[in-house]
Amino acid sequence: MLRGRSLSVTSLGGLPRWEARLPVEDLLLFEVAWEVTNKVGGIYTVIQTKAKMTADEWGDNYFLLGPYFEHNMKAQVEQCEPVNDAVRRAVDAMNKHGCQVYFGRWLIEGSPYVVLFDIGYSAWNLDTWKGDLWEACNVGIPHHDQEANEMLIFGSLTAWFLKEFNIDKEAGERQIYHRYCMERASVHCAHVFTTVSEITAIEAEHMLKRKPDVITPNGLNVKKFSAVHEFQNLHAMYKARIQDFVRGHFYGHLDFDLEKTLFLFIAGRYEFSNKGADIFLESLSRLNFLLRMHKSDVTVVVFFIMPAKTNNFNVETLKGQAVRKQLWDTAHSVKEKFGKKLYDALLRGEIPDMNNILDRDDLTVMKRAIFSTQRRSLPPVTTHNMIDDSTDPILSTIRRIGLFNSRTDRVKVILHPEFLSSTSPLLPMDYEEFVRGCHLGVFPSYYEPWGYTPAECTVMGIPSVTTNLSGFGCFMQEHVADPTAYGIYIVDRRFRSLDDSCNQLTQFLYGFCKQSRRQRIIQRNRTERLSDLLDWRYLGRYYQHARHLTLSRAFPDKFHTETTSPPMTEGFKYPRPSSVPPSPSGSQVSSPQSSDAEDENEEERYDEEEEAERDRLNIKSPLSLNHVPRGKKKLHG
Ligand code: UDP
Ligand code: G6P
Repeated sequence: MLRGRSLSVTSLGGLPRWEARLPVEDLLLFEVAWEVTNKVGGIYTVIQTKAKMTADEWGDNYFLLGPYFEHNMKAQVEQCEPVNDAVRRAVDAMNKHGCQVYFGRWLIEGSPYVVLFDIGYSAWNLDTWKGDLWEACNVGIPHHDQEANEMLIFGSLTAWFLKEFNIDKEAGERQIYHRYCMERASVHCAHVFTTVSEITAIEAEHMLKRKPDVITPNGLNVKKFSAVHEFQNLHAMYKARIQDFVRGHFYGHLDFDLEKTLFLFIAGRYEFSNKGADIFLESLSRLNFLLRMHKSDVTVVVFFIMPAKTNNFNVETLKGQAVRKQLWDTAHSVKEKFGKKLYDALLRGEIPDMNNILDRDDLTVMKRAIFSTQRRSLPPVTTHNMIDDSTDPILSTIRRIGLFNSRTDRVKVILHPEFLSSTSPLLPMDYEEFVRGCHLGVFPSYYEPWGYTPAECTVMGIPSVTTNLSGFGCFMQEHVADPTAYGIYIVDRRFRSLDDSCNQLTQFLYGFCKQSRRQRIIQRNRTERLSDLLDWRYLGRYYQHARHLTLSRAFPDKFHTETTSPPMTEGFKYPRPSSVPPSPSGSQVSSPQSSDAEDENEEERYDEEEEAERDRLNIKSPLSLNHVPRGKKKLHG
């Protein structure tokens, strides 16, 4: 093996040219072919003759994967133990799980390593792999086509090997192999293995090699208000508080209508890509373009609530709130004087002369107050002095996409790099109040075992964006027939490219911006109706089931199997609201209709259908007071 040899190739008559040297000592090369050690035709010659040149380059990091045939093995392969730890572990793991894998050196020029799979020995799993193939690409293989069946086994074993290998190598490289071993061991020792969601179940099956026995979704303690639609009133109340903050933050630039301004937010741990802040920012840039192009009168203010290292609030942000307060005080004192003069005039039985009711001093005070609102800089994109300002991923992206809160931007951004608190001098609201005051929570996570943030939005009646890579998103997809209609927008980040997911998110956001106030109110009503589904009073049953199952496995004599029947949830789906137009019929198919056609009766019919489903599964708690008694439904707006 020529360690450190450069791969630099001079361009010769159209040949490719690599400037960079491949660090082959840090890489592994696997070449997979049916004709490795197995002569059928020309491919064998290709592989066999190329082996020396490849081995010269890659040395002991070069492995050929092929099928095992006894006669080939005896004649061409010198069996040995793998030196590479990860390869050895992968071979051992497969042998432990019902496969027959051989390792050795192929006795040809270059003597490369070979990993050979015994196809016949693994035929027991053929039906499962056929099923996987069918599920993945709808290709069925007839049982009489032996060659195709062998290919499928070989391909599946290769994938298995690479999966085994990957995991170990990745864990090793990240220096967490010991942690991975502990996790895997605990999982295999447990009487009952649970994960929080469908998506973590898939992860566990691949990484930890055990399918969970029970999925135990995360719940919430859902608060019920005695007043119907109290959550709508709370939205209006806390929105007013956010509007006040925005008045201060954008002082001197308040040329947008706050009644046509939507508040969006993302909140949680500052994991830029895992939490989807990257795709969100990109979508906001596209949304800004769409809103401007269509000359929309809607403005979107987006809050990023993600804690980072800071040196307190920045001066400009604090000044904004001071200026707002000063304007408020000025307006208030002028109003007082105005009111007193008006009152005195009325007492005298006169209508005051409106041109003189304000004196020169009043005008001076007001002019001075207006002058104080002039600013040279744009409203800041962050509320705090960031310690890592120049390298911060959110700020760097904002700089790249140019969302600087300029007047022409329809999308404004505010990074608040600290969790919210009611004692903050800047935005004195706790997180729950803030969520209630917003219009949409956006959580386009790439990795999210559950994701409480969208669930919390739901129980407060605030629509949210989630993804099919988050536990919550998968759960909603499973239990709600048309999640979008209920204000749960699920971005496909699993089966689409990044750009397609970003476009989908942009369309969700743009569609949301096009809704009327009435549509938003109806949508919030629907969102809030899902809250019972997320209540521990309902979800607690999965934990109960897991506990029963554990006892029955640990003490089979004492605990009988009838207690282990799974919770009655399969097949349960919230029905599509009756007023939703059938899909597909436009970009926002699941929006509540803009006309008044969605009247009280339509919502009522829907309620009855839904309630029947709830009753069947005993979802609705006796304390559920948010649901309007039949015939008394009243829509807000
Ligand atoms: N949160 C908070 N204050 C804030 C923003 C978020 O307390 O200003 C909480 C939020 O209520 C949620 C948690 O942070 O319960 C984030 O949980 P999630 O499951 O979404 O993400 P994780 O932290 O598990 O990655
Ligand atoms: C709640 C209130 C209504 C208010 C509405 C504003 O529903 O009960 O009185 O008009 O919120 O909704 P919006 O989506 O425009 O903030």
